[in-house]
Amino acid sequence: MDGNGRWASSRGLPRTDGHRAGAKAVRRTVEGARSLGIHTLTLYAFSADNWCRPVAEVGTLMRLFREYLESEVGQCVREGIRLNVVGRRDRLESTLVRAIEIAEAATAGATGLQLRVAIDYSSRDAIVAAAGRGPHIGSPTRDSFSSALAEVVHASGSVPDVDLLIRTGGERRLSDFLLWECAYAELVFVERSWPDFRSQDLVDALEEYSRRDRRFGRITSPATPKPEPAGAGAPR
Ligand code: FPP
Repeated sequence: MDGNGRWASSRGLPRTDGHRAGAKAVRRTVEGARSLGIHTLTLYAFSADNWCRPVAEVGTLMRLFREYLESEVGQCVREGIRLNVVGRRDRLESTLVRAIEIAEAATAGATGLQLRVAIDYSSRDAIVAAAGRGPHIGSPTRDSFSSALAEVVHASGSVPDVDLLIRTGGERRLSDFLLWECAYAELVFVERSWPDFRSQDLVDALEEYSRRDRRFGRITSPATPKPEPAGAGAPR
């Protein structure tokens, strides 16, 4: 969800206003994903490297995350959205951790959109931590490693493969996001800043995704049916 700061600066506003506008775009996008029947949506809200930002900006972001969880939990329950915050929790304020636990518990049984918010998340740190659990998982397989990865980031259930990754704000990087899960992800880069992201942009990205030829290393021929996409971001 890139471009909040630039969106604000271009309007002569403080960066934190960009994050507030970004929170509105989160609400719109979640609603769009739900109505499009997307199975899993993971939003990259705060990377482990974002702790280097000014204290006031970090404080605003943490408050926005808590307010979002507190204000949306009721609607998530009503709409069958399951909330899960992935990442580290030991560096978060206790009030935010509590809001996460409450939101996750309240929506645990929901079977609609699986909404994952990545906070204090680093894919490389998660991979290293999961690898460190080697003795507990024996000779790892892809599945057992994925389970270890899910555990270290507090993922409820498994860590689904990403089908489609959308990055806004004109940047073309992965920035330590879901590196294991994105092995075969289709990447769509959107020039628009995150606060301006609309449901139609999500539809456009899905249309772009549907035009991609996903071969998973195979060759495409009429005799070779395309494998079913599995996991995040795919329309059901
Ligand atoms: C990156 O853009 C964005 C962030 C580090 C924060 C993302 C947070 C939100 C969208 C706020 C609300 C989130 C939730 C889940 C309620 P940037 O600030 O680095 O933008 P820039 O590249 O233009 O400086």
